[in-house]
Amino acid sequence: MAWHINILTLFPEMFPGPLGQSLSGRALERGDWSYTALNIRDFATDRHKTVDDTPFGGGAGMVMRPDVIEKALLSLPQPGRRIYMSPRGRVLDQRLVEELAALPALTVLCGRYEGVDQRVLDACEFEEVSIGDYVLSGGEPAAMILMDACIRLLAGVMGNAATPDEESFAASTGGLLEYPHYTRPAEWRTADGRTLDVPDILRSGDHAKVEQWRRDQALALTRARRPDLLKK
Ligand code: 6GU
Repeated sequence: MAWHINILTLFPEMFPGPLGQSLSGRALERGDWSYTALNIRDFATDRHKTVDDTPFGGGAGMVMRPDVIEKALLSLPQPGRRIYMSPRGRVLDQRLVEELAALPALTVLCGRYEGVDQRVLDACEFEEVSIGDYVLSGGEPAAMILMDACIRLLAGVMGNAATPDEESFAASTGGLLEYPHYTRPAEWRTADGRTLDVPDILRSGDHAKVEQWRRDQALALTRARRPDLLKK
């Protein structure tokens, strides 16, 4: 089953952007996922194609008009779940990513300026989703992050079908950070003359010991860097 995402934006030419490359790009070519990037401006009804206006109550910046956004949304044959990318939203995590990747379709609204009129969020039941506690100039890069996280979970998108469950935040690792990885050369001489070895256990050929070491590393790393994840 292919995954479809509708994007409502003032900058549709930003898409697919980085998602047109590498793993997600090949998945797009194969038809594992598809997108429709609608230009909100195309749904403006006045001569000047106005999409924003000054805020009632005064203050800096401009606010996107609810009527134009509603028209854009209503033009979609299959909007699905509606998400507004906003730093006020529920913070995106792997659990929400898994939920969104399992849907047949969803619509993401990307704001610019100070934001969008609250009434369209309420009337059209947009859920607000944030990608973290910092402020972007617009929702588009946040939408791309949400998309990337979903696309890599789609059936057949990852080269190695076993890989997704083993890494950071996946349910099967109990939500731990990933253990450290090593490859050749086994003895690496740095440019400034130090010799750095790969941990012996990883070259021992003892798979049970390797697994135990990786679990211990994942736990120690999580305890040191993200103790909040251990409480979850
Ligand atoms: Cl989802 N959108 C915008 N515009 N800024 C953000 C964000 C989203 N998440 C964090 N900052």
